[in-house]
Amino acid sequence: MSCLSALPVYFMLLLNPVLTQTFSEDIDVLVFLPQNNSYLFSHARVAPAILYAQQRLEADGGAYSGFHFNIQFENSDCMNDALYNLVDRSCGKKPNLILGPVCEYEAAAVVRLASHWNIPVVSAGALAAGFSNKNSEYSHLTRIAPSYVKMAETFSAMFEHFTWKSALLLFEDDKEERNCYFTLEGVYHLMVDLNIKSYAFSREVPLDTEDILHSIEETEVVIMCMPADKIREIMLAAHRRRLTNGNHMFFNVELFNASSYGNGSWKKGDKHDNDAKEAYASLNTVTLLRTVKPEFENFSLEMKKSIKKSGFLDCNDCGSVNMFVEGFHDAMLLYAIALHEAMKNGFSKKNGSEITSHMWNRTFEGIAGQVSIDASGDRNGDFSLMAMTNAEAGTYEVVANYFGANGTFQLLPAFNADHFTLKGRHKTHEETPDKSCGLGVSALTGVIVGAVLGTAMLIGFYFFRKNYRITIERRTNTEECDTGKHRQLREDSIRSNLSAA
Ligand SMILES: *[C@@H]1O[C@H](CO)[C@@H](O)[C@H](O)[C@H]1NC(C)=O
Ligand SMILES: *[C@@H]1O[C@H](CO)[C@@H](O)[C@H](O)[C@H]1NC(C)=O
Ligand SMILES: *[C@@H]1O[C@H](CO)[C@@H](O)[C@H](O)[C@H]1NC(C)=O
Ligand SMILES: *[C@@H]1O[C@H](CO)[C@@H](O)[C@H](O)[C@H]1NC(C)=O
Ligand SMILES: *[C@@H]1O[C@H](CO)[C@@H](O)[C@H](O)[C@H]1NC(C)=O
Ligand SMILES: *[C@@H]1O[C@H](CO)[C@@H](O)[C@H](O)[C@H]1NC(C)=O
Ligand SMILES: *[C@@H]1O[C@H](CO)[C@@H](O)[C@H](O)[C@H]1NC(C)=O
Repeated sequence: MSCLSALPVYFMLLLNPVLTQTFSEDIDVLVFLPQNNSYLFSHARVAPAILYAQQRLEADGGAYSGFHFNIQFENSDCMNDALYNLVDRSCGKKPNLILGPVCEYEAAAVVRLASHWNIPVVSAGALAAGFSNKNSEYSHLTRIAPSYVKMAETFSAMFEHFTWKSALLLFEDDKEERNCYFTLEGVYHLMVDLNIKSYAFSREVPLDTEDILHSIEETEVVIMCMPADKIREIMLAAHRRRLTNGNHMFFNVELFNASSYGNGSWKKGDKHDNDAKEAYASLNTVTLLRTVKPEFENFSLEMKKSIKKSGFLDCNDCGSVNMFVEGFHDAMLLYAIALHEAMKNGFSKKNGSEITSHMWNRTFEGIAGQVSIDASGDRNGDFSLMAMTNAEAGTYEVVANYFGANGTFQLLPAFNADHFTLKGRHKTHEETPDKSCGLGVSALTGVIVGAVLGTAMLIGFYFFRKNYRITIERRTNTEECDTGKHRQLREDSIRSNLSAA
């Protein structure tokens, strides 16, 4: 009897207009993207994705069809354009949502002001470790692409698994956008109990390979971030010095630009090709794991069409939708979900903090697959580890995937444990490929929380104080993590003026 009477109630609930409610609302969206096409996240590449999302959200019949997005695009120059544009709106109408900017320093300024004005910001950039602390000035920032600290979890898990003990972070620092600096800072940040050294060099000065080799000799694992030609130069030098014989692990981190890693990146058509191929046998790449699903096909085709239409001719990787394009598309979805939920609970679009909180700690279906945002508003990242699997042909394959949401490594059939075992050291691990293995997410989480809040930006401080090419010894003294210094360092890192040193 009770079952029978419950049934109609259940159906009534399903059809109840309150549950499938659509709200009518005009939403002002301000988008900051560079007009300069040399960026992977330029307006020409990303704007079509935002408009695609808008069109589908506003389409008749959907839960969000009552939302009308007034989207305004403004330039971002990775310096101050976005900030000035936002400031100019002080007296006028402020947007309800800001998308972007991507560049770290520009984002820092914009997010601070937006948080102060209670406006949610969603960006596929702002990936530096300094943004992880959402307690104050970055409180309204949601990061829809995996941050550098999330990337570093991949290394953290590998170091634990293979019991590697020391690392050298080797990177080119351009002193402007400093992408490589921020990328490896994530690693530095996360791996507090390892012996880590850093070595930065400038773009203008020729590589001091002798000095670099010396640093490599002293360490087990080398993690690099720099342009492809410099990677090749260093790998060739290391090969000549016989450092590529398994006593050292080499990694490069290339998250976004799919055309600059993988098959054939050793090939340049010069007399060193053969040596380079041999050297690259010990070079592994960490990149973003990309997924696709049927819906993605149409999206991808539409993106290609728009890019062609915009006359983007000198473009060799237009074929691929990158993480920024995908991320800003999903940013629109996430905001719509959060706003809808907030309105259902009686809040208005003006309550930025409330809407932001609905974007955090949730998993939703993005254009390319599931997107999981952690409890502090940062996307959990999935990463792929690529290695050369055919030494003769010099071809690369993905050998393992790291899933950030559950902190596990998935070893693929191509995975070869020997390849990742340091020679000349006691072998401590028996690997069983073909099998997923948990790598201790709980330990990892502890490290993240502790390290991120505690040791923020120490690295940046030293870099600018110590005359550019610097080697930092891992500190042993916890006093250096005190809050006074912490604050100083954070400001040193995410700020707009780089005149230091
Ligand atoms: C676009 O950006 C690149 C790299 O940052 C720079 O070299 C170039 O001058 C910029 N172009 C314009 C028109 O500003
Ligand atoms: C991506 O990498 C390729 C190959 O290294 C390079 O030619 C291209 O300029 C890169 N694109 C961007 C936007 O950095
Ligand atoms: C994508 O889907 C839309 C509508 O669902 C359709 O109008 C469009 O032609 C499709 N695009 C491609 C390239 O298939
Ligand atoms: C926004 O929502 C919060 C609860 O999340 C509430 O405390 C606050 O008063 C609201 N602010 C406005 C302006 O409505
Ligand atoms: C995140 O959401 C889950 C349920 O989905 C909840 O149990 C948990 O307490 C939430 N965490 C935070 C920090 O809000
Ligand atoms: C590299 O090339 C090989 C053989 O052509 C192919 O099997 C493999 O999938 C390619 N790897 C990547 C990462 O593109
Ligand atoms: C972790 O997540 C990935 C992707 O969501 C899934 O394929 C895998 O089975 C999960 N692993 C565990 C141990 O839950």
